[in-house]
Amino acid sequence: MRKNICEIIDIKYPIFQGAMAWIANASLASAVSNAGGLGIIAGGNAPVDMIRNEIRKAKELTDKPFGVNIMLLSDNAEELAKIVVEEGVKVVTTGAGNPGKYMDMWKEAGIVVIPVVASCGLAKRMEKAGADAVIAEGCESGGHVGKLTTMALLPQVIDAVNIPVIGAGGIGDGRGVAAAFALGCDGIQVGTRFLAAEECTIHENYKDLVLNAKDIDVVVTGRSTGHPVQVIKNKLARRFDMLEKSGASKEEIEKLGTGALPKAVIEGNLDEGSFMAGQIAGLISKKQTCKEIITEMFEEYNNIISGLKEI
Ligand SMILES: Cc1cc2nc3c(=O)[nH]c(=O)nc-3n(C[C@H](O)[C@H](O)[C@H](O)COP(=O)(O)O)c2cc1C
Repeated sequence: MRKNICEIIDIKYPIFQGAMAWIANASLASAVSNAGGLGIIAGGNAPVDMIRNEIRKAKELTDKPFGVNIMLLSDNAEELAKIVVEEGVKVVTTGAGNPGKYMDMWKEAGIVVIPVVASCGLAKRMEKAGADAVIAEGCESGGHVGKLTTMALLPQVIDAVNIPVIGAGGIGDGRGVAAAFALGCDGIQVGTRFLAAEECTIHENYKDLVLNAKDIDVVVTGRSTGHPVQVIKNKLARRFDMLEKSGASKEEIEKLGTGALPKAVIEGNLDEGSFMAGQIAGLISKKQTCKEIITEMFEEYNNIISGLKEI
C-alpha cells in the first residue's frame, strides 16, 4: 500500500501547483495552499534573498503547508537547500539533478522531499535515495520537457516504485485528473492552468497568450541543445527553429534563451519573451481564482468517475 499523499503533507486535495521559475511566487503558492492544494514557490535561478522573501511572504499569507522547488543545477541550489531548513519549509520538490547530498539534512528537519522525474530509472534512484514521493512529468508539460508522454510514463513509474507518484504534464481539467488517477497516480501536479489564475502575477500579455492559445500553438524549442523547452509559438520560438535548422552551435542557440523567461513574465515582451506553457494551454479559456480552479477540477473528477461504465 502506498502512503496517502494528502496525509503525508496535510493537504485537502491531492493537487500540487507546479513550480514555475520567475512565476510561482508567494501570491500564487499561498492561494493554492489556502484552497487546499500544495502551493510551491519556484527557486529557479533567482537570487536567494528573493526566494527567502517569498517564503516569508507566503508564511504571512497562509498557515497551510507549502513547498519550495530547488533546481539542483542552479547556482542558488546549495544556499536554497539550507534556507528551506532555516525557514521551516514543509515540502521540497527538486528538479534537474540528484538531491542525495541534501537528503540527510532535509530529513532531519522533517522536510518531505519530492523530486521531479521523467523516467523509471530516475524514479527508482530517488526512491532509493529516500524520497517520500516522486512527481512523474510527461512531455506535454510546459517548461523543460523529457521524452516520454504522460500517458506512457505514469503507469511505468507507478509500477517501478512503492512511494506515491504525482502525475504531471497535460492535466488541465477533471478529465485529466481522472485519467491520472486511472493510471494509478496518488496525486497530480498542474502548471499551465495556474498561469491563468487570478493570483498568478505574470504580465497580462502572458495570460492572454495562454487564454487564447489553440491546441497547436505550443512548440518545443532547443531540442538540439539537450535542454528542450515547451513554449507558446512567437517570434523568439521561430528564431530558435531557424537557428537550430541552420546548424548553429549549442552555445549560440542557448544564448537566445538567456533571460527570455523574465522578459515574458515581467515585461510581457511578445517578440523576445519565452512564454513557457504546456500542450494543454488550448483547453484553458478563463481566468479563475486558484480556489475556483481546484474545486472545479475535483467536482468534474467526481462527476466523471461516478459516470464511468463497466465494460
Ligand atoms: C512557465 C513554466 C515554468 C516552469 N518552471 C519549472 C521550474 O522552475 N521547476 C520545475 O521543477 N518545473 C517547472 N515547470 C514544470 C511545472 O512545475 C509542472 O510540472 C508542469 O507545468 C506540469 O505540466 P502542465 O504545464 O501541463 O500543467 C514549469 C512549467 C511552466 C509552465
